[in-house]
Amino acid sequence: SWFAIHPVSMNNSNHLVNSDNMGYASYLFEQEKNKGHLPGQGPFVAAFASSNLGDVSPNILGPRCANTGESCDNANSTCPIGGATMCMARGPGQDMLDSTQIIGRALYQKATALYALASQELTGPLTSAHQWVNMTDVTVSLNSTHTAKTCKPALGYSFAAGTIDGAGTFNFTQGTTVSDPFWDTLRDQLFGRPSDEMKECQKPKPVLIHTGELSKPHPWHPDIVDVQIITLGTLAITAIPGELTTMSGRRLREAIKAEFATYGMQNMTVVISGLCNVYTHYIATYEEYQVQRYEAASTIYGPHTLSAYIQLYRGLAKAIATDTVANLSRGPEPPFFKDLIKPLIPNIVDRAPIGKNFGDVLQPLNSKYRVGEVAEVTFVGANPKNSAENRTHQTFLTVEKYEDASATWQVVHNDASWETRFYWHKGLLGHSNATIQWHIPDTAKPGIYRIRYFGHNRKQDFLKPAVILSFESTSSDFEVVTT
Ligand SMILES: *[C@@H]1O[C@H](CO)[C@@H](O)[C@H](O)[C@H]1NC(C)=O
Ligand SMILES: *[C@@H]1O[C@H](CO)[C@@H](O)[C@H](O)[C@H]1NC(C)=O
Ligand SMILES: *[C@@H]1O[C@H](CO)[C@@H](O)[C@H](O)[C@H]1NC(C)=O
Ligand SMILES: *[C@@H]1O[C@H](CO)[C@@H](O)[C@H](O)[C@H]1NC(C)=O
Ligand SMILES: *[C@@H]1O[C@H](CO)[C@@H](O)[C@H](O)[C@H]1NC(C)=O
Ligand SMILES: *[C@@H]1O[C@H](CO)[C@@H](O)[C@H](O)[C@H]1NC(C)=O
Ligand SMILES: *[C@@H]1O[C@H](CO)[C@@H](O)[C@H](O)[C@H]1NC(C)=O
Ligand SMILES: *[C@@H]1O[C@H](CO)[C@@H](O)[C@H](O)[C@H]1NC(C)=O
Repeated sequence: SWFAIHPVSMNNSNHLVNSDNMGYASYLFEQEKNKGHLPGQGPFVAAFASSNLGDVSPNILGPRCANTGESCDNANSTCPIGGATMCMARGPGQDMLDSTQIIGRALYQKATALYALASQELTGPLTSAHQWVNMTDVTVSLNSTHTAKTCKPALGYSFAAGTIDGAGTFNFTQGTTVSDPFWDTLRDQLFGRPSDEMKECQKPKPVLIHTGELSKPHPWHPDIVDVQIITLGTLAITAIPGELTTMSGRRLREAIKAEFATYGMQNMTVVISGLCNVYTHYIATYEEYQVQRYEAASTIYGPHTLSAYIQLYRGLAKAIATDTVANLSRGPEPPFFKDLIKPLIPNIVDRAPIGKNFGDVLQPLNSKYRVGEVAEVTFVGANPKNSAENRTHQTFLTVEKYEDASATWQVVHNDASWETRFYWHKGLLGHSNATIQWHIPDTAKPGIYRIRYFGHNRKQDFLKPAVILSFESTSSDFEVVTT
């Protein structure tokens, strides 16, 4: 399923590692198809992919000033007090997890209805056309007499303003078309000056960071991007290396469809599959670019970025329709970076309190809970990044139910289940706590349950290399009742 919506129902204050609205739709669909399996397991994969979501917010109660509750100045998404940082959108739920579930459920429900009604079988040849393109150097033909060029990548002032779904910092605002001597001077001192050629090319975007001219420790933005179309019968999936706005998506889709038709492939269904291959931020239309809101300030290859993509994707469509894919040039191969930036966060040896071990219970569970309540237990923890480095690690937690018939514990939830939460609280000198919550659903069967924690601690003995050791721990049993 492709749908154009930003997965930003969860806002930027979230520290949990959880899916957003699209991931939740996928989760629900897979739960339905993979009955009896835990999340992330079972044979059915439900993919909910991005489309031209660039300027589509799921926070449908709209933007308001967080400090006063008043409506924002929508032209710039600013507030009288606090500027852009106070203008935030929210909804439709009580909080961000609720909003994620409401939007995700709507996506899931529509997708299941379409899935149930599906009547047309896709048949026909499978074809793929792919090219690498130096996107900093594309000549776009505007009409029979005029051409234009794409630019070396740069982010504009309004990029730093962020949006109503995640505000930026300082005094940047959307819709900024003039630069500010203060920030320009600071930029020049930190990173050097952008070239005049770049400033001219990117107009009317005022260049905040000339990413295309910064290359240490490796380029800040790609020059070489992928353009790609895959067709299966009358379905054409266009893999776009960025986030198209609504209008950009419509224009690109129509241009590709028309190009296919010109060369004899009528009635193609063209799908925009966004954020594919390499990431290059946003792709706004030429008109949107003039206004320089966030998406336009983040359209890194300049005002003719969309026109360049339309030209490139028409080329791919024509090659598929005329059966000349083999004649397409592969284009310049992108560089391969072996020396990525080393992690800046040091590894710290985990420590348990004196007299305790990793996984010991610090705050026990109650002996009994009702459905609708939250069961919570805190263990002596260790840094979860140790587990992320361990290939055999499956889950940080399980919720297990005792089955009398088989006298065994059955896993009913893992850490991917929406009913569970895993919080890691970092203390001093390698000490930490792991708190596990089970938000007991109304559908939980009454019975005896337990919660288990699976972790890894980093240990280092004097003069020896550090080792990562696994540990696991089990809470006391507790009862769940329905009344
Ligand atoms: C909003 O942006 C417009 C265009 O850049 C500008 O004229 C106006 O002063 C801005 N308003 C605020 C409140 O920043
Ligand atoms: C994020 O959402 C929570 C509600 O879940 C809200 O309290 C908080 O103010 C929001 N933060 C931002 C930065 O939008
Ligand atoms: C892309 O094209 C520009 C302009 O011709 C050139 O300076 C740059 O080196 C090219 N980038 C790569 C990675 O080849
Ligand atoms: C071609 O495009 C240029 C630049 O937008 C414009 O000035 C010119 O009038 C156009 N010519 C035609 C024939 O449309
Ligand atoms: C933004 O803040 C800087 C530093 O305080 C200041 O020099 C500049 O004038 C401000 N710009 C705007 C548009 O308010
Ligand atoms: C295009 O689709 C329409 C509606 O499904 C159908 O009536 C028509 O025959 C199709 N045309 C071609 C050339 O396949
Ligand atoms: C495509 O390449 C083949 C083989 O090299 C050649 O015979 C053919 O003329 C080319 N077609 C086009 C449209 O360039
Ligand atoms: C860990 O839990 C113990 C017992 O509840 C508490 O005293 C301590 O402050 C907690 N430490 C952190 C880092 O949350």
